[in-house]
Amino acid sequence: MSEQLFKVTIDNITIEVPPGTTILNAARKIGGDVAPPAMCYYSKLEGSGGKCRTCLVEVSKGSEKDPRPMPKLVASCRTTVMDGMEVKNITSERVVDARAGVVEFLLLNHPLDCPICDQAGECHLQDLSYEHGKEATRYEFQRRTFQKHDLGPYIQLHMTRCILCYRCVFTADQLTKKREHGVLDRGDHSEIATLIEKSLDNDFIGNIIDVCPVGALTDKTFRFKNRVWFLKPMDAHRDCPTCSGKVTLWNRGDEVYRVTARKDEWGEVEEWICNTCRFEKKKTSDWVIEGPRLINRHSVISQGHYAGSVGTVIPTETFKAVNDGRQPRLLMDIHDISEVNQTGTSLSAIERPAHSTDFNSKKA
Ligand code: SF4
Ligand code: FES
Repeated sequence: MSEQLFKVTIDNITIEVPPGTTILNAARKIGGDVAPPAMCYYSKLEGSGGKCRTCLVEVSKGSEKDPRPMPKLVASCRTTVMDGMEVKNITSERVVDARAGVVEFLLLNHPLDCPICDQAGECHLQDLSYEHGKEATRYEFQRRTFQKHDLGPYIQLHMTRCILCYRCVFTADQLTKKREHGVLDRGDHSEIATLIEKSLDNDFIGNIIDVCPVGALTDKTFRFKNRVWFLKPMDAHRDCPTCSGKVTLWNRGDEVYRVTARKDEWGEVEEWICNTCRFEKKKTSDWVIEGPRLINRHSVISQGHYAGSVGTVIPTETFKAVNDGRQPRLLMDIHDISEVNQTGTSLSAIERPAHSTDFNSKKA
């Protein structure tokens, strides 16, 4: 017997999803702007989500059986769909306003050191502030400071940049054999615990760099060496006994500056990679190059790389293709209803305010 699907409408677009799907994942199926931003949810990490509130949406109709709207905005990464549910994301003024508030909140203690931060250009908080933030802060107090922790030869922790999304904690917990770090204390004293040092001898701990949405955890072998938008991402693989060996190399010329896991369109790691691949294989000869990495993001990384021929997805002609599969709500050929764009039409020849009938010889 085929599974009954739930119908859910998000920003006026209806899709069917299996019961148990979260609103966020249903919205990701539609794609584009309909998918709310997510700073803490990570589909590959169990228990993630529910911390940052960037994914808030308005549920304007609870379900077919109980159509009452939900009184408060809900975290879409933690709320599952009901049959007949109607959700507003970018079409809700309340959501847009709340998201601007969340960005302001996330930036209360976050230093604005993007010009020197290695995450610049691929920072989710940078993208989020650009798309949903306000131009100023109302915060008048000193920002948090922390004691420096040494995380060994490969990973640098900048606790001031951390937004406490818990992704690195879940990564260490679920990918390594012993988790020794977590979030200590509460409120504005919260910090990634000092015992993070102890889990660093694990083969997969380097993945905490990839899951960190901001520049709090960075790669010491790459730090300050280059800006990501100057590098060319290339898919490459090697025969690795520990992980899949499928990575993205970040090259300038023939020099490998950085090795990361491959990330999908939501910025999530496709397959975890081991520390040896990430930190120790920095020669092109270590790898079999597959070709340019497809960067389908709004980030500056995709700017100017492989324009047109290979790699970067360039917009195609059809509206549906550039609109993530969505049909336009209204399409109109201006020539059908007005001659305003005809070359013979001269506005200066009309000695009074122009009217639509001036540009339509068929109608008097
Ligand atoms: S260090 Fe990064 S991944 Fe870890 S909790 Fe902070 S922001 Fe999240
Ligand atoms: S992504 Fe939903 S609360 Fe953070």
